[in-house]
Amino acid sequence: MEFEQEIARRRTFAIISHPDAGKTTLTEKLLLFGGAIHVAGAVKSNKIKKTATSDFMEIEKQRGISVATSVMGFEYDGYKVNILDTPGHQDFAEDTFRTLTAVDSVIIVIDGAKGVETQTRKLMQVCRMRKTPVIVFINKMDRPSNDPFDLLDEIENELQISVRPLSWPIGSGDIFRGVYNIFEKNLYLYEPSKQTVQEGVSVDLGSTGLDERIGDRAAATLREELETVEGVYPEFDIETYRSGDVAPVFFGSALNNFGVRELLHCFLQIAPQPQPSHALERDVNPDEKKFSGFIFKIHANMDPNHRNRIAFCKVCSGKFERNKGYKHVRLGKELKFSSPTAFMADKKSIIDEAYPGDIVGLPDTGNFKIGDSICEGNELIHFRGLPSFSPELFRYIDNADPMKAKQLAKGIDQLMDEGVAQLFTHQFNGRKIIGTVGALQFEVIEYRLLHEYGAKCRYEGISLYKACWVESDDEAELAEFKNRKVQYMAKDKDGRDVFLAESNFMLQMAQQDFKNIRFHLSSEF
Ligand code: G4P
Repeated sequence: MEFEQEIARRRTFAIISHPDAGKTTLTEKLLLFGGAIHVAGAVKSNKIKKTATSDFMEIEKQRGISVATSVMGFEYDGYKVNILDTPGHQDFAEDTFRTLTAVDSVIIVIDGAKGVETQTRKLMQVCRMRKTPVIVFINKMDRPSNDPFDLLDEIENELQISVRPLSWPIGSGDIFRGVYNIFEKNLYLYEPSKQTVQEGVSVDLGSTGLDERIGDRAAATLREELETVEGVYPEFDIETYRSGDVAPVFFGSALNNFGVRELLHCFLQIAPQPQPSHALERDVNPDEKKFSGFIFKIHANMDPNHRNRIAFCKVCSGKFERNKGYKHVRLGKELKFSSPTAFMADKKSIIDEAYPGDIVGLPDTGNFKIGDSICEGNELIHFRGLPSFSPELFRYIDNADPMKAKQLAKGIDQLMDEGVAQLFTHQFNGRKIIGTVGALQFEVIEYRLLHEYGAKCRYEGISLYKACWVESDDEAELAEFKNRKVQYMAKDKDGRDVFLAESNFMLQMAQQDFKNIRFHLSSEF
């Protein structure tokens, strides 16, 4: 197949949702369609279970599972589909943000009875920022759900995106009769079933055939509601979807395999193929002949007996080939990969080549950090879009075993490269500060330092509001600021200046007093 055709047939996306809305169930049904798995229940979720107890073994076990389900590729109808999994637990939100930098579109799952929930709101913010095209799947229609118009209003208001329903539910819960597929102009009748897939029947909405199938009352309501839909929502336009301005909406029940195939068919037709990636130097087009890619995720502990890691590389342009020399841009050295892997459902296998949109697993012994770029030839490309955000929680980290100082330093370094948390070095007292999004990470770090590096750490609480990256064109003012605020200054792991604000008030005062300094809540500006 031609290189351009390989690119055109790829669809790389993530499914995101608030925990429990049905992301895992939907993923599994999509894999069933792709023939990538054969029985329901084969995909274990990549979520740290809801209880969020600090059960380390459970976390470790689930981390193991999540490697296999990090990327799920399958072939369907001539398309190569790559689903990137994201952790559901909010303490791992940064992981999800980074994964979203590697996709070309997103499917958001919403529970029809719960509507828009916190995690959905946060994730959608990232999609909006990046203008990622979004399709919404309203799930669990087999349960009593909110009024569909109310749900659509809620999505528009809470997620700040216009919507366009492409299917329409006929009732919900006990009186759920099915959906009318506006995109295909077909009627799908609902029969609770976890295994089989119903065929759509084409009916003329005006004919009595509709009444015979779903009953007079339901038919009348459907006609009325569809008329309202056509009156209220603008006609579906693929360009407004691809520019991230309008989200098409589908209704269904993932558990009952209802509405999933229609979602997949429509998704394959409208979702964008691999898109250009932004680099510091320029935008990189997928169809450029030279390979380039970036690391958006690093996974350790593939094998508990060896400290091996796998770096997930998104192919941005060109063809990736096994055993060909590529440049590691940050280290300025050439690397060859003799056993790159691809992920097909729950299996990973060594591959010889990969195309833009694909994710390649690169075995790593410590060369990679999150955000690293790799490319072919002499041109250096630094991909952007993987910023660190200000952590929410901060703690000093100290060595609890003087004999193991080296191990601790190495362990902390490597865990930070993996993006588990952020490290800052206090400029006043030289102490190291770990910043995280959630409390769970502190426990993960402590556990992993001990089990993987044989190092013991101790935490000490520190009450901080935010870490702000500071910069200014006025060198004198910046020097003055750093001098005055010396007890609040730190360096991030790349040596950049960070101001540790104890409170919002303190940050506002600093902004007022130092007008020529810019305070950023993310490391990329
Ligand atoms: P998540 O990955 O978004 O966290 O959600 P997940 O798919 O695990 O689904 C959460 C719960 O919702 C599961 O039940 C799942 O069976 C159920 N579910 C998913 N889709 C539907 C649907 O269309 N209709 C109904 N009625 N339920 C649905 P659970 O009891 O938490 O887990 P399990 O014991 O079934 O695995």
